[in-house]
Amino acid sequence: MTSPQREQFLALLRAAVTAGTLVKLTLGKPYGPDATLKNLFVRPVTLKAGPHLTFVWRHATRDITKNHQPDAALAELATLIGRTFLDAHLFTTTKTAQLDGRPDGTARLHITGAAAPPLQSAAHNRPKEYTLPADAPWLRALGVTNDHGRPREGMADKFRQIQKFAELLSHLIAEVALPADRPLHVTDMGSGKGYLTFAIAALLGPRATVRGIEQRPELVDLCNRVARECGFANLDFTAGQILPPEIENPKSKIENPPDVLLALHACDTATDDALAQGIAAGARLLVVSPCCQKELRAQLTAPPVLTDALRHGIFQERQAEFVTDALRAQLLEWAGYRTKAFEFISTEHTAKNLMIAAIKSHAPGDAARAERLREFATFYGIRTQRLAAHLSLPLTP
Ligand SMILES: C[S@@+](CC[C@H](N)C(=O)[O-])C[C@H]1O[C@@H](n2cnc3c(N)ncnc32)[C@H](O)[C@@H]1O
Repeated sequence: MTSPQREQFLALLRAAVTAGTLVKLTLGKPYGPDATLKNLFVRPVTLKAGPHLTFVWRHATRDITKNHQPDAALAELATLIGRTFLDAHLFTTTKTAQLDGRPDGTARLHITGAAAPPLQSAAHNRPKEYTLPADAPWLRALGVTNDHGRPREGMADKFRQIQKFAELLSHLIAEVALPADRPLHVTDMGSGKGYLTFAIAALLGPRATVRGIEQRPELVDLCNRVARECGFANLDFTAGQILPPEIENPKSKIENPPDVLLALHACDTATDDALAQGIAAGARLLVVSPCCQKELRAQLTAPPVLTDALRHGIFQERQAEFVTDALRAQLLEWAGYRTKAFEFISTEHTAKNLMIAAIKSHAPGDAARAERLREFATFYGIRTQRLAAHLSLPLTP
């Protein structure tokens, strides 16, 4: 395809890369021989070797990530846009441009002035290569860093966890089709001392409104004070409970249905309640880091072949964690989300390190998926589970 629209789109892309205003580029509608290829996501990163563009190639069952220098990246993109991928969506700090290509080589180009502010990870002038600036006032105010922007004694793991979380989220957000024509709404359930709530608010900037919900009022007051003092107009905290969506509770009410819902280290079934709220609200991205998986322990019956292995308490505990979180991931898939489960930060730094990220991607309610997850539940003797109950999906035939 060599349409003028394609050439104009490539010129906009080159200009954004050169000026450092590129936020992200998403290529879709693959039109090539590789049937497993779904999308390509591109965003700027700063590496030791200088500014690069990260390419995340999304295939049906795996992602492949590659970094390229800007010139090489632009050359490769020129061969892909309108050829290997018919659609391309460019977000810069000042405009968005959408190229809709057709197999016959024609295309439509739609450019709007709606700006997507850069993820802070895109800034090229950091003294150190952290996703969030280490000298940010909120990190100091929450007691994570000292006046020199270094982790305080005993806070190095927390500092690393916050940076890792911000990095992971910036990747996830680049993948999700989030609305560009209105502010994003983010809810963090069980926000605690707010480390990760501040991190996402700092990462997204004025593009998003972020709300933390936390049951301990003293933490809510502390976080609201720090947010005010550090000039976050887009961040607030509310005292309330994480409750299932069917329970009306004005104190936990989400005013704006979230586009992104977080629940990090919310104990036991609080994770399920948060997930159910996010699903009911139609959130595009759900990110949870489950802990204290107790609910299923009493129901778990070891398949005979595992009886000897499960004499050991530690294996029972790990089995309960695995079965709980694997079932949650399957339920999310059934509810219309593509899920990833991965280690969030090395176990060397924290034991609570599993993360499940779910991106809304397909129609819910697939019967074959329901059948498979029921077989999984039956294998482990599971009859009920909180998220399944919220989704009104019986686990027994
Ligand atoms: C382990 S902390 C994690 C805090 C934060 N999300 C993080 O990862 O740094 C869990 C927080 O969730 C809060 N929490 C637990 N269950 C809750 C519920 N049902 N409703 C509201 N907050 C809850 C606790 O008070 C605590 O502050």
